Amino acid sequence: IPADRIRNFSIVAHIDHGKSTLADRILEMTGALAYPLDKQSSQVLDKLSVERERGITVKAQTATIVHEYGGHAYLLNLVDTPGHVDFSYEVSRSLSACEGCVLLVDATQGIQAQTVSNCLLALEEDLEIVPAVNKIDAPAAEPEECARQIEDVLGLGAEALRVSAKTGEGVAALLNAVVERVPPPRTERDTKPFKALIFDAHHDQFRGVVCLCRVVDGSIKAGDRVASCGTGTELEVLEVGLMCPEPTECERLEGGQIGYVVTGMKNSADFRIGDTLRKSVDVGVEALPGFKPIKSMCFGGIFPAATDEYESLKRAIEKLTLNDSSVVVHRESSQAMGPGFRCGFLGLLHMEVFLQRLEEEHGQSVVSTKPFVPLLVVEADGSREREILSPGDWDEVKWGRTTRVLEPVVLATIVCPNTVVGKVITLCHDHRGTQVDHTALGSQRVMLRYRLPLTELAGDFYDSLKGCSSGYATLEYEEAGHEEADLVKLDVRVNGEVVDSLARVVHRDHAFPVGKAMVSRLKKLLDRQAFELALQAVVGSKVVARETLAALRKDVLAKCYGGDVSRKKKLLKKQKEGKKRLKSLGSVNVPVEVFPQLLK
Ligand code: GTP
Repeated sequence: IPADRIRNFSIVAHIDHGKSTLADRILEMTGALAYPLDKQSSQVLDKLSVERERGITVKAQTATIVHEYGGHAYLLNLVDTPGHVDFSYEVSRSLSACEGCVLLVDATQGIQAQTVSNCLLALEEDLEIVPAVNKIDAPAAEPEECARQIEDVLGLGAEALRVSAKTGEGVAALLNAVVERVPPPRTERDTKPFKALIFDAHHDQFRGVVCLCRVVDGSIKAGDRVASCGTGTELEVLEVGLMCPEPTECERLEGGQIGYVVTGMKNSADFRIGDTLRKSVDVGVEALPGFKPIKSMCFGGIFPAATDEYESLKRAIEKLTLNDSSVVVHRESSQAMGPGFRCGFLGLLHMEVFLQRLEEEHGQSVVSTKPFVPLLVVEADGSREREILSPGDWDEVKWGRTTRVLEPVVLATIVCPNTVVGKVITLCHDHRGTQVDHTALGSQRVMLRYRLPLTELAGDFYDSLKGCSSGYATLEYEEAGHEEADLVKLDVRVNGEVVDSLARVVHRDHAFPVGKAMVSRLKKLLDRQAFELALQAVVGSKVVARETLAALRKDVLAKCYGGDVSRKKKLLKKQKEGKKRLKSLGSVNVPVEVFPQLLK
């Protein structure tokens, strides 16, 4: 099919604005799906069970469809994109394989925080944006108001289409608009050597690694030898094809097309997402500009629930990181938890989803620590910069009088109803936020912009925001550099011994309330031991909170009433031995089952 009859586009939207429903409707209408989806069945493009359960798209999925327009068949490549803030890396990855995108806005909700940021991402990629107002069938829909917001707030000149992904109304017109407004891919099929961008990859049990590619120039077929511009690895192409949406083999992939390439590669390190693929013979082909280097926004320790599962956890993490290359993995060992990993994630939900996938798709049972936002340590003159990736690193810093700590801050966009704006502002201030902007969105809603420390978002901020706005406020953020902060390390000691995996770094003003909450939770969760346990939260050498877990001594003797002194003595002796055993374990006799709850 000639390049001018190809359109590569994706759909971007705020969460729940109907992107997956629209994708399904498009597949159904273009015949990619032979039968209509029944109402109960989950969306075709949301393949992962995590996605079905949470109703969010995590991994971008791609489908090729045929659409008739003006008496011609057009090949439309629809790239599904994740809707959540944490996955903006995947959004921009998917967008870089496209020339245009449909910006979908729910007519009952209007513009939300993610609508704004997704729109900015698309503009950054220089994409043609086709705005569309969805859910026009819903009784509460206000399509006119919604379209006005798209024009006023986002400044998109193009007229917004009206669709209902549910009933299918307007969807054919939307596809026509994609053909009319989105430019065809620019490509040189015959005059330039083959070059393709790997924008996604997954592991197939039988075929090894399957790469999803956007062919930029030239063409490729089974039997060709290809090489990675990044790693230099050479492999033979076993199969090429299109996602329809099931993988369907085809003879060749040509410039402008999106499809899959199977090489039988087993080692995931050979071809990386963001890498450029060339033919082995074309040594001179230059790599395409890759993606922005990934920056981990939070780190978490991941340990196997049982130590003998370390190897299988390692393999599972390797497989998952092929599919999600934005996760950074280091090895780590903790006194309390044994050998494990410290992984870097793009955000909090990203970490949560990763853990859930480890469990559900790879059958791993793991214990994870609280997410940690990396900090920078600098001297007053700006010298000696080092990164703190976990609370444990804090102790390795040589703290001088001029040593300062910088923490990452974000620029948060919050959209909420007028009625709760006071509560939202209070919440932001309580979390050390500074207001940057306050704009009315129509007569009912407000858009607030705040500078906030990322660490504050790692706590319960999101839940509190949802709580104080009855679920109506939406949040999105982007990085906004580093700022100095008065932070301290908060340790938890059990009978004088520090439990490394419970350490945290908090703002000095929060050390007392956080420490108090931690030791009282610890007290509730720990079984009473044969001896008294002192539970302390400490900053440096200063105890900020303390609880005592009483010994079980009384209970031991309660069983023997009467005057049998020798029996009592025997029991007390046994108890003493027990004490020794526990103490020699290091007084921290914390059962592993307790950790998931402690670390929450
Ligand atoms: P994420 O993948 O989580 O970003 O969500 P999404 O944008 O894909 O939303 P999804 O397609 O899952 O739709 C969210 C909800 O809106 C579902 O309950 C849909 O049934 C509903 N919905 C989607 N489109 C329409 C529509 O046109 N009309 C009505 N009434 N409901 C719709």
